[in-house]
Amino acid sequence: MSEEAAATSATSAPVATIATLGQHEGQSVTLRGWLYNLRESGKLLFPIFRDGTGTVQGVAHVKSVAPEVFEALKGLTQESSVIVTGKVRADKRAPGGYELDVENIQVVQRVPESDPYPITLKEHGVDFLMEHRHLWLRTPRQSAILRIRAEIMRAAAEYFDSNGFIRTDPPILTPAACEGTSTLFPVDYFGDPAFLTQSGQLYIESTALALGKVYSFGPTFRAEKSKTRRHLTEFWMIEPEVAYCDLDCLMELAENFLSHIVQCVLRNRASELAVIGRDPEKLRNILPPFPRLRYDEAAAMLNDAYKKGELENPFEYGNDFGSPDETWLSSQFDRPVMVHRYPADVKAFYMEPDPKDSRYALCVDVLAPEGYGEVIGGSQRVSSYDLLKSRIEQHNLPMDAFQWYLDLRRYGSVPHAGFGMGIERLVAWVCALDHVRETIPFPRMLHRIYP
Ligand code: 4AD
Ligand code: MG
Repeated sequence: MSEEAAATSATSAPVATIATLGQHEGQSVTLRGWLYNLRESGKLLFPIFRDGTGTVQGVAHVKSVAPEVFEALKGLTQESSVIVTGKVRADKRAPGGYELDVENIQVVQRVPESDPYPITLKEHGVDFLMEHRHLWLRTPRQSAILRIRAEIMRAAAEYFDSNGFIRTDPPILTPAACEGTSTLFPVDYFGDPAFLTQSGQLYIESTALALGKVYSFGPTFRAEKSKTRRHLTEFWMIEPEVAYCDLDCLMELAENFLSHIVQCVLRNRASELAVIGRDPEKLRNILPPFPRLRYDEAAAMLNDAYKKGELENPFEYGNDFGSPDETWLSSQFDRPVMVHRYPADVKAFYMEPDPKDSRYALCVDVLAPEGYGEVIGGSQRVSSYDLLKSRIEQHNLPMDAFQWYLDLRRYGSVPHAGFGMGIERLVAWVCALDHVRETIPFPRMLHRIYP
């Protein structure tokens, strides 16, 4: 069916979307969507329609619509697809501010009573919903989260595009590890071993030395056997990399970048935040500068918290922070906190040591507030050929596979820095979700690869 045919087959009223009903007050419009819910009280029907942009309640009285329209609507099953025409009426009590006085309806496909839509409006368990993720996405809450996700991705790319960064796409099939060998997904590359990328970083270091300021944006993979609310095995990462940039420059970039994204969501996705019940006030003060803490200061704070009984386990100095540590730390501030200069031993091989004390790495993790933990990880990169070579040896990484990466230090090496931000972690925080599984259309996790 062509768009035009679909639009006009119910009536000649112009096609509108639910999100833009306000532009059509007092007029008849055609909506193309689905029946989300139906309340019936004798001679009155209250269908709720959804069209992907929102939901709107319709009203149909037996005396105000044609008998065949009332019949078509009466008993109509949830998620039946419909083209409906009605007059837009402002109603202060309605969630979107408008209701639709139904005039005509065409049922495109009626969901059979014998095989009803599996997700009813009652509560379902998470396992059931995850099994039906392909349908769960239709509920207003899930759709709103995906709209916010899309805005986060748009705003993230916009920030870099409008600040002189060039997008360069690293490969997804790679010959070696970037973030440690334990979490690689192997693939058979015509008989040779290869891996799905964990991060585009090493490759965009080379495009940064070619183009100055670059970023990459794509899927990344980690075979992490962790069952936490923060870990996916496939997630989307956006990564800037900048030539002639040090750790301070990187932290400034991180706080400006994150603030831009959050302010865009507040501006452009206010109604979606309302649908999911997210308090926008908690996001308004996400503006630079963010508090900065050395790892050592953070460790001391964690020790105090343990002594006061605010943490179950003591923090062992020298380790990376665990989830409960990050949760506690990030809940101490009203905006993201930047923890920098971790002990070099717990961090990646490519991180530049602090020239003032080489036991520390020039790195930063940005922890989101409200207990959401790490959303950004980054660092200044080792720029010395000799140091990088010895790091590759110490970490038992295959020297052959890293020759090209060493070339970046052989030919015109400069201080450079970059970070990676996981989109799903950011969506989880911005939407205040309990778990990253709702932040991506089809989450890939330890025990989930269907649908
Ligand atoms: O801290 P990570 O491991 O850093 C890197 O991969 C660097 N190579 C990035 C760079 O410097 N260009 O990962 C970066 C971010 C984390 O802060 C987190 O937001 C996200 O990626 N992330 C995950 N998100 C969901 N599930 C997982 N298993 C994730 N692992 C990392
Ligand atoms: Mg990290």
